[in-house]
Amino acid sequence: MKRVRDRKIYVCSNCGYKSHKWFGKCPQCEEWNTAVEIEEAEEDVSSIVDFKSSTATVDVQKRLTTSMGEMDRVLGGGLTPGSVVLVAGGPGMGKSTLLLEYASALATKGYVYYVSGEESVPQMLSRVKRLGVEREKLLLTSTVSIDDVLASIKKKPIALVFDSIQTIHTSGMNALTGSISQMRECTVKLVEYAKTSNASVFMIGHITKAGNIAGPMMLEHMVDTVLYLEGESRSGRRILRAIKNRFGPIEEIAVYEMRKNGMIEISDPSRIFADMESEEVGNAISIVVEGSRSLMINVQALTTPNHKSNPIRIARGFENARLLMLTALVSNYLRVSLENRDVYLNVLGGLKISDPGVDLAVIAALYSSAKNITFPSKTAFVGEVGLDGRIRTVQQMQMRVAEARRMGLKRLIVSYQFKEDDVTGVRTVKEAITKALSGDE
Ligand SMILES: Nc1ncnc2c1ncn2[C@@H]1O[C@H](COP(=O)(O)OP(=O)(O)OP(=O)(O)O)[C@@H](O)[C@H]1O
Ligand SMILES: [Mg+2]
Repeated sequence: MKRVRDRKIYVCSNCGYKSHKWFGKCPQCEEWNTAVEIEEAEEDVSSIVDFKSSTATVDVQKRLTTSMGEMDRVLGGGLTPGSVVLVAGGPGMGKSTLLLEYASALATKGYVYYVSGEESVPQMLSRVKRLGVEREKLLLTSTVSIDDVLASIKKKPIALVFDSIQTIHTSGMNALTGSISQMRECTVKLVEYAKTSNASVFMIGHITKAGNIAGPMMLEHMVDTVLYLEGESRSGRRILRAIKNRFGPIEEIAVYEMRKNGMIEISDPSRIFADMESEEVGNAISIVVEGSRSLMINVQALTTPNHKSNPIRIARGFENARLLMLTALVSNYLRVSLENRDVYLNVLGGLKISDPGVDLAVIAALYSSAKNITFPSKTAFVGEVGLDGRIRTVQQMQMRVAEARRMGLKRLIVSYQFKEDDVTGVRTVKEAITKALSGDE
């Protein structure tokens, strides 16, 4: 026996907090005026629930792998059947291009439906032709009605793509397309469809200027995987990052180059994120770990005199608070006064680094700029730096050393705690700089 009763609830459009009472300020995320009234169907169910023994056998579902190896890796080693993936990114980032390419790659294995609420079929076809991704089993349509789509599926799909979640709607609701309740309801239907049909569903989501998925954060909770496509709009470089994955590790990244003929996978990103021949003032190389891969990167610092106002400290691709701390360490342990200097820090290539192993390279870059000296070429720095000026070792050092060797680096300055041939172990920032400059082992 099933009784369904509608009731009104209020949901925070920022974080998804639910309440029966209206609120001006969300008690969870503390944002103002984010309460949105929605109708929630309350199901009063008294039917029998089937429990399964944990020793029951199941068919282990095989992941689908494609010719787009980088995309497969970000998904956790291929696409899990029946999963729901949200791909979010800013305007013009290349979301439609990337998913059309991926849909085409998947369509070698079965039917893939690509639904666009933003482009007409001729527009989609011209993109397909430009990218050279025609496939018999890649089916395109232009509609905004999710119900029409689900009712029209004749050939069993392996995947569906909805471009975008903000432009599709489901009937039977009084809410506008793009509103929180519409997106929520559409997502509920798509999740249900994916779990019952075992087809995977991709949803494209637009991102606001502040970097949030336009609309509710709650979408992120409802789906299995969330991928962000980011990059600088002027450069062609794009980074696809998994920020949530129920079926794989997060922090995996894939790097692409946006070209006329589509998004080209860069399977060896170290070559574009670091310029190891550069012996410019203010440059330092490091090896970071992103997901299951190590990458060589280049950190650049610039320090300029400022005697008039409070000095500026700006970091791009690196946490500002951490830059402040490392700046203080440089002043304190390397006896370089940065008090009357502006400090700018940049991680080359639009990468955002949270790996603590990059600390020592940041210190080296700051020192190089402030002292107007350069380090010998092919020297890299890896280590976390504490407030005591001591260098601590970081995770996955073996992987970093292997990457340094592969990239032909000559010296790797690391914490003395990590012992290995061909690396230079140091205890303090002072020792690290001295050894890097002298070339001593
Ligand atoms: N004919 C073309 N030749 C070369 N590049 C093109 C062409 N058409 C589009 N592009 C490139 O593709 C990019 C847009 O890609 P795409 O439409 O996949 O982005 P999107 O993230 O889906 O954008 P939106 O948010 O508008 O849906 C543009 O920035 C442009 O550089
Ligand atoms: Mg698009």
